Amino acid sequence: MTNDIKEVLFSESEIDAMTTRIAEQIDRDYADRSKRLLLLCILKGSVVFMSDLMKKIKRPVEIDFMKVSSYGAGTETTGKINIILDLHRADLSELDILVVEDIIDSGKTLSYLVDYLKLGGARSVNTCTLLDKPSRRQVDFQATYTGAEIPDEFVVGYGLDYAELYRTLPYVGILKPEVYNK
Ligand code: IMP
Ligand code: MG
Repeated sequence: MTNDIKEVLFSESEIDAMTTRIAEQIDRDYADRSKRLLLLCILKGSVVFMSDLMKKIKRPVEIDFMKVSSYGAGTETTGKINIILDLHRADLSELDILVVEDIIDSGKTLSYLVDYLKLGGARSVNTCTLLDKPSRRQVDFQATYTGAEIPDEFVVGYGLDYAELYRTLPYVGILKPEVYNK
């Protein structure tokens, strides 16, 4: 599997520093502990980031999950967002939601989800992404918290996949183009 990686972009310790910094920002910004904060993990790519991040947040948080898809089998978004696992909750109006995403590319997934959750009545909706490829934006969108901006390369590891593989790598690496150009 590691033979398919062209370059390690972020090592385990670099990612650890990013999650620590974001957790500290979240504790600072959501200082009122009497308000309910929901970390909403977007399956499947965000599961590793979410697991590390939530352990570092000191204030009380609740967690939940949604699953959406915008990608077919390849490395380009289809742009059409499908909700595969929805939030079925009656208490959205009591929740400050922080959507936790692995990476922002076109921006379509997160901008759609933020609108969807606000329409559903959430008290507030903010977003947190480990990685961001700003040069790929098709809609105007900026996350509230970002681990790092990266160039236009297809990356895998630390939850991110290509064709469902590589999610278990502990680092983020650039996939060799010959892997998906085969
Ligand atoms: P967006 O809606 O175009 O912003 O797409 C975001 C989603 O695309 C992410 O949640 C990932 O699932 C996927 N994605 C975008 N870029 C990459 C990448 O470089 N590696 C793996 N998945 C990616
Ligand atoms: Mg994803």
